[in-house]
Amino acid sequence: RLKPDQAIVPPLDLFRPERRNSVGLDLTNENTLRALGACLTKPATPFGEIHGVAVLNPADRSDVVGHIAFATLQAREDALARATRAALAWAAVPATDRARMLEMAADMVERDMAPLMGLIMREAGKTLANAVSEIREAVDFLRYYAAGIRAHAADATVRPLGVVTCISPWNFPLAIFLGQVSAALAAGNAVLAKPAEETPLIARAAVRILHDAGIPHDALHFVPGDGEAGAHLVGDPRVNAVLFTGSTAVARLIQKQLATRLNPDGRPVPLIAETGGQNALIVDSSALTEQVVADVMSSAFDSAGQRCSALRVLCLQDDCADRVLAMLKGAMREWRVGNPAHPQTDIGPVISAEARAGILDHVEAMRTRGYPVFQTDPTLECAQGTFVAPTLIEIDDLNTLGQEVFGPVLHVVRYARDALPALMKAINATGYALTFGVHSRVDHTIETLTAKAAAGNVYVNRNLVGAVVGVQPFGGHGLSGTGPKAGGPLYLRRLVAASSAIPAE
Ligand code: NAD
Ligand code: ALA
Repeated sequence: RLKPDQAIVPPLDLFRPERRNSVGLDLTNENTLRALGACLTKPATPFGEIHGVAVLNPADRSDVVGHIAFATLQAREDALARATRAALAWAAVPATDRARMLEMAADMVERDMAPLMGLIMREAGKTLANAVSEIREAVDFLRYYAAGIRAHAADATVRPLGVVTCISPWNFPLAIFLGQVSAALAAGNAVLAKPAEETPLIARAAVRILHDAGIPHDALHFVPGDGEAGAHLVGDPRVNAVLFTGSTAVARLIQKQLATRLNPDGRPVPLIAETGGQNALIVDSSALTEQVVADVMSSAFDSAGQRCSALRVLCLQDDCADRVLAMLKGAMREWRVGNPAHPQTDIGPVISAEARAGILDHVEAMRTRGYPVFQTDPTLECAQGTFVAPTLIEIDDLNTLGQEVFGPVLHVVRYARDALPALMKAINATGYALTFGVHSRVDHTIETLTAKAAAGNVYVNRNLVGAVVGVQPFGGHGLSGTGPKAGGPLYLRRLVAASSAIPAE
């Protein structure tokens, strides 16, 4: 739902072109599953080159998915120099040609869907259903930004910024990686693409596709590496803008770094940062319990809770809390935690042993503080991987929450009906403002809460995850990000210098 002050003014419609979203695959169709089978299974040789750091499957740490050679300091310097030299030539490529290349890349991602899904599942531990969503979102981003820039093809005053550094997280290793890169390229910028160190192989496959689709090698550089490499690519004065998706803590470091310099035109270096959330769902006693439980399960535990949009705190009105909790715990027992390649698996692993340790530390700390913890038992097949069973922690106050816990951990707080305004204030006071939801069948409650919620994406009587590119532009503010929303009409504007046709924000 758009709030009145988010209403889109007419010129921006130029960036909201006609196009269709990717349809993905029907996983209930036996024939589709059979056809996918061979592509999803482990290849005889590990993916890609066999030098560099081994990338392990989080579902089975004995499975080496492939190897990656991180870019050395010299390789990063070379990439910066070549991107800087190539920026003008890429900017001179007509917008329609840039759009066509991105659309061709989208077709190629769809064509290679099965092997790409296999890689996403092994490298990032995604379930089959999540891998399909990942492909769909990646394809949607490519086509959305292509169509967005095509709409400006005739406007000679649209000028790119120059060189853009894109830094992405592991939890959407294809979709967010390609979303950032395709937007920056569509706008005519040369790109340095640094994927998360946990998921470089799928990013490398994506860059190969973009190069095969015609994007010049000098206009798009693949720069795998860790946080230090990211800081190098942010701090270099040849970089004219930064697109970052990841933790709030790293976004703050990047902001500090960028605050120390200006672009050659004397303006601040643009940063789009999309970060974490402390996302809440308010359920009142008029809500439909079965629907609440289904939506809470997918919001909190789908993708093992490793979505920025995931539900972190469920707020239950006193009079329905016991009923909802009883059914929710039953549903948690039903969900299958295990090998993501298995079509019946609901929850795969968390990304790494460090991530698992951090999540379990939080659960133990809460248990020690006396908060009731409910956890299901993982299956035996989880022994080789970094799994965390879905966990529910009953708390008494939102102040207990602290920072985002990035895993399948749901906090539950009860509230009395007359405490609803204070509860809404406490949710906004966390400082995060990414997703928020309300489950109610009372119009007045829905209208009051959605009007007061600070979050960027507000959902009513549905789950909190899975925003669709071009339909539900996604992003927050405060500790959750800078805006503009990804997959929305404002995004490309941040990546071009102001022109007569594109009013300043
Ligand atoms: P992270 O911040 O640890 O890492 C993200 C990226 O930043 C990685 O590529 C990493 O190598 C790089 N990096 C680390 N230190 C850096 C530095 N000093 N300078 C430059 N780059 C640096 O985050 P993560 O663990 O990969 O991802 C999970 C986080 O991402 C969660 O907090 C989640 O909420 C957030 N996220 C947000 C969105 C959104 O749209 N708002 C989407 C997905 C994930
Ligand atoms: N865009 C992703 C979602 O909505 C993060 O879940």
